[in-house]
Amino acid sequence: MSNQDKIFPVPDDFAKNALIDDTLYQKMYQASIDDPDAFWGEHGKRLSWSKQYTKVKDVSWSKENLHVNWFSDGELNVSYNCIDRHLKDKADQIAIIWEGDDPNKSENITFAQLHRRVCRFANVLKSMGVQKGDRVTIYLPMIPEAAYAMLACARIGAIHSIVFAGFSAEALAGRINDCRSSVIITADEGLRGSKSVPLKKNVDEAVKHALGVDKILVVENTGNPVSMKGGRDIWWHEAATGVDEFCEPVAMKAEDPLFILYTSGSTGQPKGVLHTTGGYLVWASMTHEYVFDYKPGDIYWCTADVGWVTGHSYIVYGPLANAATTLMFEGVPTYPDASRFWNVVDKHKVNIFYTAPTAIRALMGQGEDFVKKTSRKSLRLLGSVGEPINPEAWEWYYKVVGDSRCPIVDTWWQTETGGIMISPLPGATPLKPGSATRPFFGIKPELVDSEGVVLEGATEGNLVISDSWPGQMRTVYGDHQRFKDTYFSAYPGKYFTGDGCRRDEDGYYWITGRVDDVINVSGHRMGTAEVESALVAHDLVSEAAVVGYPHDVKGQGIYAYVTLSAGNDGTPELAKDLVNWVRAEIGPIASPDKIQFAPGLPKTRSGKIMRRILRKIAEDEFSNLGDTSTLADPEVVDDLIENRQNKK
Ligand code: PRX
Repeated sequence: MSNQDKIFPVPDDFAKNALIDDTLYQKMYQASIDDPDAFWGEHGKRLSWSKQYTKVKDVSWSKENLHVNWFSDGELNVSYNCIDRHLKDKADQIAIIWEGDDPNKSENITFAQLHRRVCRFANVLKSMGVQKGDRVTIYLPMIPEAAYAMLACARIGAIHSIVFAGFSAEALAGRINDCRSSVIITADEGLRGSKSVPLKKNVDEAVKHALGVDKILVVENTGNPVSMKGGRDIWWHEAATGVDEFCEPVAMKAEDPLFILYTSGSTGQPKGVLHTTGGYLVWASMTHEYVFDYKPGDIYWCTADVGWVTGHSYIVYGPLANAATTLMFEGVPTYPDASRFWNVVDKHKVNIFYTAPTAIRALMGQGEDFVKKTSRKSLRLLGSVGEPINPEAWEWYYKVVGDSRCPIVDTWWQTETGGIMISPLPGATPLKPGSATRPFFGIKPELVDSEGVVLEGATEGNLVISDSWPGQMRTVYGDHQRFKDTYFSAYPGKYFTGDGCRRDEDGYYWITGRVDDVINVSGHRMGTAEVESALVAHDLVSEAAVVGYPHDVKGQGIYAYVTLSAGNDGTPELAKDLVNWVRAEIGPIASPDKIQFAPGLPKTRSGKIMRRILRKIAEDEFSNLGDTSTLADPEVVDDLIENRQNKK
């Protein structure tokens, strides 16, 4: 029997105590599909609304009239829902446990403290002129101020756009310009695995290319000297001195924007995915509660960075809306050593732990001892997100980390979906390693062929979602046409995920990976087109084609075929330069793992690069290249094979 056929039933005691067992899952799922208005009308009440909604779902995915509105006549404030409403009986409960990069540094922040700090932050932003609807770019490391900044924006109705602190100055500038934000919040430096990241320096560089930035608010983090420009740059600790610790939350319409988050697609520059207030928070909080079987008192830890959507929905908004204690970790899994995650679990008695397969695979490579010398008794539930988890890593996570006691929720979702879409509910769903299993409430997944024909039963195809859910993105910021074209044009009337998927006899979904030109490197989404345009921006490069290939730890690695302009040699030094060039253009996460200099790229007679062939060569599977007769210049393939970088 292969791993794929193994089934891990719900442990009896888990089912007994879980919020949702299988019977209830079936009943609620059916209700959510039969009558979405009634279902979401009821579940929207989990939030506190300053004006109760009377409308629930108002959605059209038609080409002519694409719009997505949920709870549209209701009003609420996200910061109020994540903080103020818990103050009555949970003021002294810990809201955020911050664990520093340095294992000797941590801090507990209660809801009462969080309230004061977020209010102060909001008042500082107001004093800087930030108003409702303004875009604020946040470029911060994993320090509590990142959460304060998000919640402060939400409190005053400003729209935050977080840029992952691993992105370069260049990438940051593009994102600042796209949403025209005039205020940036950053820190002097970030800290990861004892290495510092020059954030303020990057911001200084970025604003040279970003027009209209008036103010930069700088949090002192490492304390190392940075340059501050008078009139523009403001130290947070100075601005916050003596500032009022109360700030009235602004009543927002349910469909007012909450945040923009840039994500990569198969073409062009990253898109600003826009999420709004009411539906997003209903979705983030409800999925957090049910998927993680969250109960009051649980200590919950999601290891993501707030620069990604996982950090938005499952470090900050979902957990805090549920009054959970959420752990925020500044560091990396291997510093000071590969026991770090498990030491942190023991130190803070973490019950629910949510991470990415790439971290699991990296730790698996370091051996069991780093895990086994820790207790991990507090753990009750494990989660996985960001990419398909291979069954070997799943079983290691289950047996070695969870001591075969803790269910694993393999959660499939996307920046665009706002929250978890397909996932086990741990008290309801028997698990199969490598499968995201079944849809969450309200989600109607379908598999279609390339013509859009809906495939029934056990089959494989492209994954689409056939009806709206409250957490879905509302538009691409500033480009509604791109929203239509990207998600609703391939299969009219349906949301196209960009993922391939298999459904088995039990109706379980198995995500097989992207079917477009997006690759997933260590759980980070990367457009091959972005890496290509970074490469061709180099003086010596005339053409580049980038594909993914299977990588033991990262899931996918980045393989770049590069054609140099005439008269230049593809030396190992130049290959190194190109890697550094891409790091500077986009960020370290986009560094090519392999560079192959290619005198020519395989193209059709109409000039289209045949990526299928490049993928096969990168995978060292060139024996089965398929039909190459339509190529303009079939000989280039021989050279590519000859000089392939992944020879087994
Ligand atoms: O290909 C899927 C993969 O990650 C993509 C979404 O990336 P992003 O928007 O950056 O969001 C990542 C965090 C939600 C998806 O299109 N993906 C995400 N989770 C899984 C996954 N693939 C397989 N299994 C998952 N659990």
